Amino acid sequence: MPALVLLGAQWGDEGKGKATDLLGGSVDYVVRYQGGNNAGHTVVVGDQKYALHLLPSGILSPGCTPVIGNGVVVDPAVLLSELSGLAERGVDTSKLLISGNAHLITPYHTTLDKVSERFLGKRKIGTTGRGIGPAYADKINRVGIRVQDLFDESILRQKVEAALDSKNQVLAKLYNRRAIAVDQVVEELLGYADQLSGYVADTTLVLNNAIDRGQVVLFEGGQGTLLDVDHGTYPFVTSSNPTAGGACTGTGVGPTKISRVIGILKAYTTRVGAGPFPTELLDEDGEKLRTIGGERGVTTGRDRRCGWFDAVIARYATRVNGLTDFFLTKLDVLTGWERIPVCVAYEIDGKRVEELPYSQTDFHHATPIYETLPGWSEDITQAKTFDDLPKNAQKYVQALEEMSGAPISAIGVGPGRDETIQINSFL
Ligand code: GDP
Ligand code: IMO
Ligand code: MG
Repeated sequence: MPALVLLGAQWGDEGKGKATDLLGGSVDYVVRYQGGNNAGHTVVVGDQKYALHLLPSGILSPGCTPVIGNGVVVDPAVLLSELSGLAERGVDTSKLLISGNAHLITPYHTTLDKVSERFLGKRKIGTTGRGIGPAYADKINRVGIRVQDLFDESILRQKVEAALDSKNQVLAKLYNRRAIAVDQVVEELLGYADQLSGYVADTTLVLNNAIDRGQVVLFEGGQGTLLDVDHGTYPFVTSSNPTAGGACTGTGVGPTKISRVIGILKAYTTRVGAGPFPTELLDEDGEKLRTIGGERGVTTGRDRRCGWFDAVIARYATRVNGLTDFFLTKLDVLTGWERIPVCVAYEIDGKRVEELPYSQTDFHHATPIYETLPGWSEDITQAKTFDDLPKNAQKYVQALEEMSGAPISAIGVGPGRDETIQINSFL
């Protein structure tokens, strides 16, 4: 079982951090392959709570080497402050490896993210404002700055000049902002070079060698399937590929090495930012899910939009990721509802539709067709096995599994490491 991918099956915040941390003790490497500090992964270890943005959740497991792959966009200031924050709490961060090919988020990316959102007005995406989209746009436009550029001042300066040439025109003439000085950016970036140099490695080589030796590598996705720039609800998406294929391009490990793809699936649905969300609840049930589930963003502090479970989305995640397993999280949050609606299909222009429509127009018109399942009132947070769950909770899990197209191999009944029912081993 050399390499596995763990990713979000919905719109992010499914509990990937907890699931990764749970496996961290049994794997040799945990690798982020896309996204940046738009992610907010919460890990609860005993009475300690950690919020990770850029660092892989494996950093909290002493035996595990955390890796930031080439597909990630790295804000060096955020990275250094996250590292020092963890070091202050006694976490050993010395094993971290960063790909020299990962792209940097610079101050002009963050500025552009914020001003372009403002410019979009009511059409805005609701980004995290962390510079993610502009940094990926530069990567694709071939004017990005990479981690390795920090170590060659002359190349760094040429690249920053090339990037700012046109951006300063845009900032000044379109957005009415002050131009950004090349010297200032180069100086700031060079200031990070010494602090980061010890972490930079040929991560593709390291990871492939590890897999060849029989070591276990876990790829940890940020965001989720429906936020994928190709397979998500475009344009209301992030600018990278959280889906399983992203683990290959974002690390340089081939698909033949990946044996398992685990989709993290919340027992209901949440979304942050703008965009369609068929099962969204704007009533007191939505408010109750938000309160009981603690559905507030780890990165931006925004309230998450909440809704019932959507099996159409889950089936789609199974399809586009080739999921082998689901990890169902936050089942405990549903305790106390007498009846729990689950979306089994959509109605679009009077027709029943079982699969996610590829057309944006159709998806905007989709209304959920619900089946209602009986709820339970017993506290389930102490459950250790499937049989410990009340009958109706068991039936809820079984119904979701049948609708979603892959086995549910673990169930989260609380935020802590040990608040998990493991049905099939992931390793
Ligand atoms: P991520 O971005 O996918 O890592 O998810 P977040 O950390 O943003 O949001 C998930 C939240 O749910 C965090 O506060 C977790 O501590 C919490 N959580 C994860 N699994 C469970 C679970 O099974 N039950 C409960 N009650 N909370 C959970
Ligand atoms: P984790 O890893 C939930 C959303 C933003 C916005 C859209 C684009 O914690 O699951 P971006 O800043 O990426 O350009 O914003 O994507 N978004 C997330 N929503 N969880 C996340 O990460 C997210 N990262 C980005 O809210 O709608
Ligand atoms: Mg999150």
